[in-house]
Amino acid sequence: MVRLAASVLGADPLRLADAVKAADDYGIPVLHIDAMDGNFAPNIAFGPDTVKAMRPLFKGFFDVHLMLLHPELYLERYAAAGADGMTVHLETTTHHLRRLATIRQLGCRAGLAINPGTPLEAALELLRLEAVDTLLVMSVNPGFSGSSFIEALLRKIERARALRDEHGWSFDIAIDGGMNASNVKAVVDAGVDIVVSGSGLYGGPSLAERAAALERAIANEG
Ligand code: DX5
Ligand code: ZN
Repeated sequence: MVRLAASVLGADPLRLADAVKAADDYGIPVLHIDAMDGNFAPNIAFGPDTVKAMRPLFKGFFDVHLMLLHPELYLERYAAAGADGMTVHLETTTHHLRRLATIRQLGCRAGLAINPGTPLEAALELLRLEAVDTLLVMSVNPGFSGSSFIEALLRKIERARALRDEHGWSFDIAIDGGMNASNVKAVVDAGVDIVVSGSGLYGGPSLAERAAALERAIANEG
């Protein structure tokens, strides 16, 4: 069963509360919250206080995607703000095992994200050690909502899925960036479990209509 994750970076920043509630009303299972420091990603976004303010508005899973340097400085604060999962980038930190273990110790699912230009092989040892609960494959360069899906990333998804199946590992595979009703079926066929969508869900007046269209595309009902 593929899950949709609503990325609030794609919402109107002056109507964040409405955006979170719309996802909740529809029953979107995951809220995806991008945190950016203006260094690793060329943009600045949601801090722990914003996460805390949003938390009561959404019943589902709160996933914080940390696109920032030194994520170790912020894990405790995002966990205290209500994160259920936190994802660190392979490219932003050393001692990945320690970071991922800290996330689990804080009671959250541990995510590892890899940029489009980072080979899957760089994550292999962490997957083998079963230190990762969610592998987040970036299908755009980090920073903005509304970028175009890099189609070549389908191969990375397929290889991640094949590795998981071959070894019987149990991490979820998520894709983040440029998902819409015309390309989502291909990533689902390639093997993802979680589809993150910003502009795909928030790029029009009705999240419900856009979510239903994505779900129809996933189910291949056009
Ligand atoms: C991009 C972010 C994404 C972004 C996705 O750097 O990590 O979560 O909000 O937005 P769309 O779906 O519009 O590409
Ligand atoms: Zn993201």
